[in-house]
Amino acid sequence: MFSSHGPSVRELAVQGLSSVERGYDLLAPKFDHTPFRTPDRMLDAVEETLARREGTFGAGLDVCCGTGAGTGLLRRLCRDRITGVDLSAGMLAEAGRRHADDDRVDFVRADARDLPADLADSYDLAVSFGAFGHFLPSERPALFSGVHSALRPGGLFAFPIGAPIPPSSPVWWAVAGFDALMRVRNAVWRPPFVMYYRTFPLSGVRADLRTAGFTVETVPLEHFGRLPGGAPRWRLVLARR
Ligand SMILES: C[S@@+](CC[C@H](N)C(=O)[O-])C[C@H]1O[C@@H](n2cnc3c(N)ncnc32)[C@H](O)[C@@H]1O
Repeated sequence: MFSSHGPSVRELAVQGLSSVERGYDLLAPKFDHTPFRTPDRMLDAVEETLARREGTFGAGLDVCCGTGAGTGLLRRLCRDRITGVDLSAGMLAEAGRRHADDDRVDFVRADARDLPADLADSYDLAVSFGAFGHFLPSERPALFSGVHSALRPGGLFAFPIGAPIPPSSPVWWAVAGFDALMRVRNAVWRPPFVMYYRTFPLSGVRADLRTAGFTVETVPLEHFGRLPGGAPRWRLVLARR
């Protein structure tokens, strides 16, 4: 699961017992050698789908950018300013190093649940990858209304979402077990480390996006195929301000 350049079990344990911010600060130098970084295959599928449907964009925002996986995609899709926002200064430092060759790119340390007012009405495309497990369902309205405010009218918030995993799959038991472990960890240990796999269902997400003022559609990411029942394994959510 981890390459030899990735974190040791001990390092992962220390990170998991920290806050989200501190945990990512510690993980940052090795983050790109973990499976937590969004794989290029997913980034390429999203980029190709957005380019085919929408062409290019003006300014771009990468919400919870981490070390800048999605920022690369924005550099190719967007013509103007590109901003990565993240809670972790360590992750932002890594992202800054990776994208130092493009003076259109800036990074802002901020909580995505409370985006700075000076980002308002500034972006034509916002993306987010691999971070929604860090938000409780009750935090989604603040997250979505912040992104809605950061977009210009007509701007697009795009992110991939996976199909629900059936309980017949061993993966269901793995993620359910992980979430249960995290709930126990967060009940007995401070600071909390919010990271759950099963708290971001499309139905609730769609409803919260609509409440925040978006119009919402989804398109299948055919790159990942379909489930036996015919549903796409992955969809791209397209939420328009
Ligand atoms: C699994 S990483 C994903 C990073 C990157 N988007 C990727 O796909 O590789 C999750 C990121 O979300 C950030 N994060 C978690 N909670 C956040 C919050 N409330 N505000 C901003 N960033 C947050 C973490 O610091 C971390 O960099």
